[in-house]
Amino acid sequence: MSRQSSLLSFLLILWFGGAMSARAVSELHIPPPKCTVNPKYYVDEILAGPCQDSFTRKRYTGTILQRRLCQNMSNSVFQQDGAPAHTSKLSQQWCQLNLPNYWAKEVWPGNSPDLSPIENLWAYVKNELSELPAASNLDLLKNQLKNVWADISPDLLKRLMGGMPARMRKCVDLNGGNIGK
Ligand SMILES: *[C@@H]1O[C@H](CO)[C@@H](O)[C@H](O)[C@H]1NC(C)=O
Repeated sequence: MSRQSSLLSFLLILWFGGAMSARAVSELHIPPPKCTVNPKYYVDEILAGPCQDSFTRKRYTGTILQRRLCQNMSNSVFQQDGAPAHTSKLSQQWCQLNLPNYWAKEVWPGNSPDLSPIENLWAYVKNELSELPAASNLDLLKNQLKNVWADISPDLLKRLMGGMPARMRKCVDLNGGNIGK
């Protein structure tokens, strides 16, 4: 009980972000306490930081934190959820300038976990965290979070991304309705 509630209260004040593909993840970004993730912070510290680093890594092999997110960004679409910092003009401009295959926010799928594999990854990460001994302070929780993130299995990434075509088809069949689990 206390384990769950202390974890929950930490997670409420701890915002974290990262990017995933079928083969790799970016470094996880955890902003400092009380930081507001506004468009400028998002572009400077996240898009131009760990996201871009993960797009431009030199390696194609290695752990999920070592290899490049996608082999060829020209064949890949970078999709975000509809958070205001993501859809902001600054962020959209950055994507247009820095990604060879830019899709504007207007063509992203609806803001639905059904069509956003990273929502399932966040759920997995939070669940793994809840299985660990309760962190007694924020720094320990950050360490636990980074360890869980680094230990994500390549199979899980493959599974989450590999399920997308079928989920998209199902969503079309249901006229955009909820596809469930
Ligand atoms: C990346 O993909 C684009 C578009 O399919 C292609 O024109 C380009 O040659 C590819 N680059 C590499 C390095 O394979």
